[in-house]
Parts: sequence; C-alpha cells; structure tokens
Amino acid sequence: MGGRRIGVIGSLNVDYVSYVRKSPERGETVLADDFSIVPGGKGANQAFALGRIGCDVSMFGLVGDDDNGKLGLANLESAGVDVSGVEVCSAPTGLALITVAEDGDNSIVVVQGANKKVGREYIDRKFSEICRCDIIVFQMEIPKETVLYAAKRLKDEGKVIILDPAPVPDGFPDELLGYADYIKPNETELVRLSGLPASGFSIEEACRLLIRRGAACILASAGPEGAFCMDRSGNLRHFPSYEVDVIDTTAAGDSFTASFAYGIANGFSFDDSVRLAVEVSTIVVQRKGAQSSIPERREILSLIERLGIPAGRKAGIAFGGNP
Ligand code: RIB
Repeated sequence: MGGRRIGVIGSLNVDYVSYVRKSPERGETVLADDFSIVPGGKGANQAFALGRIGCDVSMFGLVGDDDNGKLGLANLESAGVDVSGVEVCSAPTGLALITVAEDGDNSIVVVQGANKKVGREYIDRKFSEICRCDIIVFQMEIPKETVLYAAKRLKDEGKVIILDPAPVPDGFPDELLGYADYIKPNETELVRLSGLPASGFSIEEACRLLIRRGAACILASAGPEGAFCMDRSGNLRHFPSYEVDVIDTTAAGDSFTASFAYGIANGFSFDDSVRLAVEVSTIVVQRKGAQSSIPERREILSLIERLGIPAGRKAGIAFGGNP
C-alpha cells in the first residue's frame, strides 16, 4: 500500500461473454465458440485493477441481493479493495452482455440494474466515507445526474477528479467537463463527446473543442496508437504504443484509467503515469476477460522498473489538472 487513497464511484456488473469469430450483422445469428461469466463493470474493473496494483482503494456503488452481486464483491475483496461502501439494494446486480470477436474487438450491452439506483441520496449517505479518499474516479454506467452531483461536491472538497466518460450518455452535461481534472475517453467516446463527425475525425480538433468547453486535460486512449493528451496549453502530445496480438479488448480502457490514477496517486509525473497506462492496457488486450486480464502487482512493479519510472517520486502534476 502507499500513495494517496483512491475512491471509485461507479458500476459493478457481471459479464456474460460470448466469443465469436465475427460479431453478428444486423438480423444475423451467429454461433459462439466459447462463453464465460466473469465479474466486470467499468467501476469495479477500475477498483480491482487499483487493488491489484496495491493501491489503497475503496469502491462505492450498489449491487443486488443476488449471486452476481456476491461474485463481484468477492472478486474485489480478493484484490484488497475496500467494499464497505457498497450497498445492497432491491434491484438485480448490473450485467453486461459482451460479444468478443476473433480480432479482439468487443461490443457491450449493459443492463444497468442496481447501478441505475446510485443516486444523490446514496452519495449523501456515503459522503464522509468518500471524502476519506484523495482521488475520485468516475465512469458513466451510473446516472449522469449522480456523477455530476458527486463530482461537483467532491471538487468543492478539493479532490482530484478523474472521469472516464464511458459510455457517453445522451445529453452529457457539459458542466461535468469543468469538474474533472482529467478526462479519459477512447476514440469512440471522443467522437460522441465532441459531437464532431466520425468521418475525417481529428483527435486534435476534438480535444481542442473539449478544452474550449471547459475540460482541463483530455487523455484520449487510442488503442494501438497509444494515447493523445491535451491540456489548456492546447498542445497535443502523443504517447505511442506498439502492435500486439489482440485477444480481447475488454477492460483495456478501465486498466488504462486505473493505471493512470495509480501513477498520479503515487507521485509519478503526468508523463510517467500516461506511459504506465499505455503499457498496462497493452498487456490487458493480450488476455481474455475483464478483471481476469488485469496484471498482478509484481508485473506492474517490473513494468515500472522497465520503464525507468522513479518509484514514489514526488514530481507534482506537470501537465493538466484543474486548479
Ligand atoms: O469496460 C468493460 C466493462 O464494460 C465490462 O466489464 C462490462 O461490465 C461493461 O461495464
């Protein structure tokens, strides 16, 4: 353990994953080669990754009084995540129907279930517990109104806010851009957030637009291209990756966000935090599953060593951040 404490406010799901040669076209039925039921949910995946790395991390959210809820919580606990803030409610635990094609790409339908019940009252009830964390990580599988409400209150408390805007909801509240210190969309989410046409899409133009709309720092993950970042200076910076054999992209974005948060929590420079995030998500796409694909602490530590990241350096936040 070490570094600043991280709170993850978000979804806990169980993933029903079918592995197919090719995702079905509209109106088409395809046969799966394999199927598995595994713990998932963008919030839980991020908390799990942080726990595995050895962070002091608490999960906040809701599950149902069912086996899926128990499965998700047990897995988080096995990674050392504090789940005392997770409540059980009358709705069923969220679930995700995931199709993974042979090229590793996935499509996901989330049935929100209990995640949909994470409202203001829950945030109010848990507020003092959440405030024990220094860095708060959000995604958007709980209601957008709740994310907005919590981010605003926590920003007022001086917390560092990391927003993974996945999935981008209809009517995304622009006000939220201004409460986040770091926003981590993937390319699809960047298209939706910016409202720019997908054809001829420019990451640079989209980032610039979001900065103009109030974002402090955009950290866009871009698959095999690595990541692109822009803060209020308006300079686009590229953190490259490399080609690997992609098996399953599920949780690649979640592990990216978690590794970045880990870096910031442990005083790594912004650049080192992004480099670590790119590397970890590159490992994750080469493995099957959501939480099952997330590297163990020893792998992360040797990665940190290989990248030459000075452990525990108090480098401050050299890029981005929302004063
Ligand atoms: O990011 C991957 C996750 O998205 C899956 O685990 C699934 O539960 C959905 O939330």
